[in-house]
Amino acid sequence: MLQSHDKVTQLFNILEKQQQQPGDAAVGGSADHDNVMVSYATFVSDVLPQKLSHQLETIYQEGIEKYGDWGALMPIDPLQGSLLAWLTRLVNARSVLEIGTFTGYSTIYLANALRDNGVEPAGVLEGKPVVTCELFRSVAEYARSNFVKTGTDAFIDVKVGDAIETLQALPKGTMFDLIFIYADKPSYKRYFDVILERELLTPTGIMAFDNIIMPGIKKTEILADPTPLDNPSAIQEAHQILTEALDKSSPSKHSPIPPSDKLDELTSIMHAFNTYVKQCEAVDHIALPLFTGMLLVRLRAGKGRGSSVA
Ligand SMILES: C[S@@+](CC[C@H](N)C(=O)[O-])C[C@H]1O[C@@H](n2cnc3c(N)ncnc32)[C@H](O)[C@@H]1O
Repeated sequence: MLQSHDKVTQLFNILEKQQQQPGDAAVGGSADHDNVMVSYATFVSDVLPQKLSHQLETIYQEGIEKYGDWGALMPIDPLQGSLLAWLTRLVNARSVLEIGTFTGYSTIYLANALRDNGVEPAGVLEGKPVVTCELFRSVAEYARSNFVKTGTDAFIDVKVGDAIETLQALPKGTMFDLIFIYADKPSYKRYFDVILERELLTPTGIMAFDNIIMPGIKKTEILADPTPLDNPSAIQEAHQILTEALDKSSPSKHSPIPPSDKLDELTSIMHAFNTYVKQCEAVDHIALPLFTGMLLVRLRAGKGRGSSVA
């Protein structure tokens, strides 16, 4: 996945390389072919002010210095940031909820889009218009420092702790027009259920789940027999992996790519989640094979309350 904002240079480099290897360039779906598509799309889509674009690039690079491979793999792709910002503008969002802050890279795209919508730092909510949830205090503190650097801190409320507890503790009547979920995969179903049960999404709002298509989908046995979604040990294990990876006392000891059996388990969990959403009558959704798989969900008119699975 490309992360650099120096897109034109990258694009030309890739094109130049392909011209030297015309045989490879003709093969659709190659990594280079995908990179050209992403680079070009990013280049022609970019709507970020140049200053913010450079600040985001710095945040991305500093995230790598601080968190190693995790820093490289966790943040969304810049084009994905532009897509989320575009969706935020499309629904004329006044408030945004994010589950999974990390360095705050994606949060900054969302806050900037709200600013484009004319939302003031103290918006329609009692507090700040962006609520973002992060499990680890040290990570949340680091994200806050990035919000200060980019002048977005007045828009963003970072809630530390398990996101489920944060959602449960939101004042009654709190609603969001855009909800972005990119955190612990075994909890996606619980996030989905709580958002519907507590009516956290506005009737015209959009929920976006990231990372819903995992590499193991090529294995038919996983698709045939998905892992049950209410699996406390899987949730505990995923939290354990994250805790260790983000523990500064043991940097780089843990690979951000889980071992293949763990990856298969996550693939299986995500397949069960995707199927669960597909069967839910309360929502209208589409899964996109973009980035690491994105599921866009909105409420069906008149069916917002509860998660009615057929
Ligand atoms: C993939 S990263 C988020 C990346 C970020 N959205 C971005 O694009 O820059 C996932 C984050 O979710 C956090 N997380 C994991 N489990 C969580 C939970 N139960 N509650 C809140 N945050 C959680 C992790 O600590 C990690 O920082």
